[in-house]
Amino acid sequence: EFKELVFSGVQPTGNLHLGNYLGALQKFVALQDSHECIYCVVDLHSLTATLVHEDLAEQTRSITAAFLAAGIDPKKHIVFNQSQVMQHAELAWIFNCVARIGWMNRMTQFKDKAGKDRENASLGLLAYPSLMAADILVYRATHVPVGDDQKQHLELTRDIAQKFNNDFSSRIADLCYGVEMDVGEEKVNGFFPLTEPLIDGPVTRVMSLRDGSKKMSKSDPSDLSRINLTDDADAISKKIKKAKTDPEALPSEEAGLEGRPEALNLVGIYAALSGKTRADVLADFGGRQFSEFKPALADLAVDKLSPIATEMRRISADPGYIDSVLREGSGRAREKAEATMKMVREIIGL
Ligand code: ADP
Ligand code: NA
Repeated sequence: EFKELVFSGVQPTGNLHLGNYLGALQKFVALQDSHECIYCVVDLHSLTATLVHEDLAEQTRSITAAFLAAGIDPKKHIVFNQSQVMQHAELAWIFNCVARIGWMNRMTQFKDKAGKDRENASLGLLAYPSLMAADILVYRATHVPVGDDQKQHLELTRDIAQKFNNDFSSRIADLCYGVEMDVGEEKVNGFFPLTEPLIDGPVTRVMSLRDGSKKMSKSDPSDLSRINLTDDADAISKKIKKAKTDPEALPSEEAGLEGRPEALNLVGIYAALSGKTRADVLADFGGRQFSEFKPALADLAVDKLSPIATEMRRISADPGYIDSVLREGSGRAREKAEATMKMVREIIGL
């Protein structure tokens, strides 16, 4: 059996928003009591968006500060940035030779980001999921907390692991590097685990506050569409007050949220921030108007997010401390990644 290990990453691009918090950071924090965790600022991934990126180091520190401010303990767990551990890039190259172009072409994130002129997209954008698989599998991580948008990339990570395990099964067996795992009904011996995403919770995809059909995102031109982790209480209240809703009162049961994406989103956000289920929230607010629910949601969001923003500012004032956390974390990560790569090189005969 593989030892349970959690890995996840966040790109150093733009400010973190409530979607990143509920889809990622809040889960990262919750998992650290029960699991060994590795949390990474994936700076190499961010090169797929903009290669020339003057404030990359600054953005990397800012995401690190958000990790720490949210409550991740860098003494118990590993916090580092991807480019400091070159084994990620090495394994990604090997995975580029394992994965098929057709697998990459099917990724919806690639199609969205590449747009119409796909021939002109960077090769890095196409190969992004291969680097993501390497980030995870270089630690042989078994669990990845992510938002719903990353589900397809996690499936691809499993496909890469499975193909590597199959292609090299006799080498893996000869070297006794296989670990037993369950694949459906069967027990098989493989080198890489078939990593599971951890996506559940009351809101797996936080939607834009202005349009219930789009995910909340850093790249949305409307600042009213998202709550940034660094927004102050006034900004948070204003954005929730202006959030798009419908004229009905809140239903008292979940079935009543069907066909009401904006209501579903706000109830999900309330549930996730308060640690309740959506059913609990509707038991409290069913029958009430948004004019009553929104101020309660704004108070809750301010309560949860403003201490994080304050802590982020405090930590960011000491870049030397942040750099020391990243340096120390990178050292620990490198040791683990190199242990895997020694075996991988042997398996493939390098
Ligand atoms: P973004 O998608 O904002 O560019 P990243 O790709 O760095 O940010 O994603 C960081 C984490 O935040 C990932 O686990 C991703 O699934 C999660 N995430 C991003 N947007 C949302 C959202 N709107 N709802 C839930 N999770 C999200
Ligand atoms: Na994303």
